Amino acid sequence: MTTVLVTGGAGFIGSNLVRYLRREHRDWRIFNIDKLTYAGNLNNLAGIEVGPDYSFVQGDVADGAMLSRVWARRRIKYVFHLAAETHVDRSLKDAVPFVRANIEGTAVLLDLARTEGVEKFIYMSTDEVYGAVPRGSDEVFTEDSPLKPRNPYSATKAGADLLCQVAHASHDMPVVIVRAANNYGPYQHPEKFLPLMLTNLMQGRKVPVYGTGQQMRDWLFVDDTCKALVGLAERAEPGSIYNLSGSGLIPNIELARKVLDVMRLEEEENLKMIADRPGHDFSYPLNADKIERELNIRTETRLDDGLRRTVFWYRNNEDWWRPIREGRFKDYYKEQYSEL
Ligand code: NAD
Ligand code: DAU
Repeated sequence: MTTVLVTGGAGFIGSNLVRYLRREHRDWRIFNIDKLTYAGNLNNLAGIEVGPDYSFVQGDVADGAMLSRVWARRRIKYVFHLAAETHVDRSLKDAVPFVRANIEGTAVLLDLARTEGVEKFIYMSTDEVYGAVPRGSDEVFTEDSPLKPRNPYSATKAGADLLCQVAHASHDMPVVIVRAANNYGPYQHPEKFLPLMLTNLMQGRKVPVYGTGQQMRDWLFVDDTCKALVGLAERAEPGSIYNLSGSGLIPNIELARKVLDVMRLEEEENLKMIADRPGHDFSYPLNADKIERELNIRTETRLDDGLRRTVFWYRNNEDWWRPIREGRFKDYYKEQYSEL
C-alpha cells in the first residue's frame, strides 16, 4: 500500500495533484495537510470524499507538534511538499508570512520526514530561484546555475530549496527538487495573471498588464506538472534536482492577446498597461533537458490547447471563482489595481 502526503493539497497545484492521483493511482492513499490560508480552498477538492483512501487535516506545516501527531499514525512513502505562500506581489508587500510558511515550514517538515523515514521527499521549487535574465541575454538556467532570487517569494523558495539540498548532504535524506515554470489550469486563484485575466474579462473588466508587458513567462499546464511529480517520486535518484519547463517563453502581452483571441474580444477595449511590479523579473529561461534525458519526462500540452481548456473551465465554473472574487480578495484587488 502506497501512502503519500501532499502538503498544500487545497491549493492550485496541490488539488490538481490530488485529483490526478485519484485518477491515475487509485490504489494510493492520500493524506492532505493544508492550512487553508486565503489561497487554500476546500471547493478545489469538491467531489473528493474523505474515507480510507483520502484524508484531510487542516494544519500548518510549520507546526511540528501537530505534524508529528498526525504523521505517527501513518507510514508515508512519498511526500509531495507543495504548501507555500506563493504570490510574488503579496511577498513584495509583506515577506514575513513567506518566511514562516516557506522556510520554517520546510525545515519542520524535513526534520519530521527524517525521524519518521520516507522513501522520497519531493520539494516543489520554482524557476524563480535562479533569479532572472535581463532582456536580450542569451543565458539559460541549468540545474547547476547559481541561486540568485530577486524577490521575497523566490528568496524564501531558494532558502527552502537549500534546506532540502542540505538534508540530503547532511542526513542522506531522499530529497528530490523540481524547479518548475509558471503553471496554469483549473482551480488557480484569481490573484495570478492568467485567472485574473479570465475572471476580469468574464466580468467585463480590463486586463491589467504590468509595465510594458514585454516580460516573458514559460507556461506549463498543471496536469503535466502532476505527471512529472509522480515520475520523480517513482524514478528520480535521491538528491537529484530537475528543471521542469512548459511550452516556451512568451511575453505577457502576447499571452494576453492569445486570451483575448480565444475569448473573441478586442485588444483596445480590454487591455490596460499599469505601473510595473517592483524589480519585475524579465524572464526565467530554463534548460529542462535533464528530466527528459534521465527520466523520460516531458511536458506535452501546447499552450494553445491548454489555454482553450483553461478558458473553457473558467467559463463553466463561475460558481467556483465568483465567491473568491466577491470575498476578501476584493480588498486586495482594490489596493493592487487602484489604477484600473
Ligand atoms: P497556491 O497558493 O495555489 O497553494 C498553496 C497552498 O498551500 C494553499 O492551499 C495554502 O492554504 C497552503 N499553505 C500555505 N501555507 C501553508 C502552511 N504553512 N501549512 C500548510 N499549508 C499551507 O500555490 P500553487 O500555485 O499551487 O503552488 C504550489 C507549490 O508549487 C508552491 O510551493 C509553489 O511555490 C510551487 N510552484 C508553483 C508554481 C506556479 O506557477 N503556480 C510554479 C513553480 C513552483
Ligand atoms: O515561475 C514560477 C512562478 O510563477 C511560481 O513560482 C509562482 O508561485 C507563481 O505565482 C508564478 O509567479 P509569477 O510572478 O511569474 O506569476 P504571476 O501570475 O503573478 O505573473 C505572471 C506574469 O504576469 C509576471 O510577469 C507578472 C505579470 N502580471 C501579473 C499580474 C498578477 C501582470 O502583468 N499583471 C498582473 O495583474
